[in-house]
Amino acid sequence: MLRYVTTNAGKVREAREYLDGVEQLNYDYTEIQAAELGPIAARGAREAYRQAGEPVLVDDAGLFVEGFDGFPGPYSSYVEGTLGVDVVQRLVAGEIDAPRRASFQCVLAYCDGDDFAATPDPVDREDRSAAAAAGAVDDADDDAADDGTLPVKLFRGSVRGRIVEPRGEGGFGYDPIFEHDGSTFAELAADEKNAVSHRGRALAKFAEWFQTRPV
Ligand code: IMP
Repeated sequence: MLRYVTTNAGKVREAREYLDGVEQLNYDYTEIQAAELGPIAARGAREAYRQAGEPVLVDDAGLFVEGFDGFPGPYSSYVEGTLGVDVVQRLVAGEIDAPRRASFQCVLAYCDGDDFAATPDPVDREDRSAAAAAGAVDDADDDAADDGTLPVKLFRGSVRGRIVEPRGEGGFGYDPIFEHDGSTFAELAADEKNAVSHRGRALAKFAEWFQTRPV
């Protein structure tokens, strides 16, 4: 069975629209510090696979504000938990003239212990060196979860929009302050968000590929 690895029930609701029978694995994998989502998700997938012993899909996402050089990006979760979404919106409004461009990005990292045939979506085999380059792994404390030999397949999705004053009651996280095509993501029904969102785009790529994956 495929396990969707996240502590966020909102992500699982969105994933279920694409993946029949997917189950949440409520596992808080280690988030290394890195400038990009890919290495964080890949390392999380290796750790979660070793924990679960069955196929896992890790979902790592973030909000990237263009005028802030991509901040909060990989630190979106920390910033939501410390500053909060409303403060991010006010910071952007105070520092950046309209149109306050931003994007949501999502990386899905799949690991089932086997290798992958070549497709356009990348395979991460560089976990140990990526983490070490980011200064996040203490080699003395290294354990099996840091073993970069487990291949991980990555699927990316992104969507562009702009930061606006909060509107809407749906979704989660930064959805109320992210406007795309006239609506914030919190104003959209789940299927409407999925049709255009970073996660929906990554899930569509993954779901198409996964159908062809021998079990
Ligand atoms: P993570 O991928 O669980 O680490 O999430 C990173 C941060 O981005 C958290 O603050 C989430 O609430 C937020 N986030 C992730 N996906 C979405 C989304 O689809 N909409 C709004 N916020 C999101």
